[in-house]
Amino acid sequence: MADSEQSTIDGSLEAIAETGVDIVPLVYECYFATTPAALEHFGIAPGDELPIWAGHMINELLLCLISDDEADLRSRAFAVTTTHCGKGIDSGLYRSLCECVVQVVADLSGDAFGAAQRQAWGARVDRLMALVDVELAAEQAWSRPRPLPA
Ligand code: HEM
Repeated sequence: MADSEQSTIDGSLEAIAETGVDIVPLVYECYFATTPAALEHFGIAPGDELPIWAGHMINELLLCLISDDEADLRSRAFAVTTTHCGKGIDSGLYRSLCECVVQVVADLSGDAFGAAQRQAWGARVDRLMALVDVELAAEQAWSRPRPLPA
């Protein structure tokens, strides 16, 4: 991965940190507005309080997106799909959550979020989703009903 991509990501993180805003509620606001089908996985209705683990989840997602270590990212992506295995969470639900993180970063960054930032964060979402999709395909292959051996 290019150093310039990492420094662009780091710059966005600094910009957000400077605002002092907690991104977690903003990410979920975006997520449930754009992806209402996700609500059933959280066991809540619109406007309800978020489950206790919801903040940890966004923290982990952010760590996946900002990771500059390939091995670290691979193990995190593997852990994510293992944690969520069997819950019927499809690729689109994962991507949409990632895109909301990027949207919130963009909103909080204001004019500092330009083409370079959009490109860098988009590449990070694609990088994570490529790994998640491999794990989801493996999960599907395992869960497909197979005939018993004769
Ligand atoms: C790459 C994206 C994601 C990451 C990094 C992630 C990460 C995590 C982590 C670390 C936890 C454990 C939290 C804790 O116990 O403290 C968790 C739990 C959970 N996540 Fe995610 N998650 C992602 C996407 C999603 C999506 C798209 C959904 C559903 C639409 C979802 C639904 C859940 C649920 C229901 C739990 C609770 C699991 C349980 O304890 O039964 N996650 N997630």
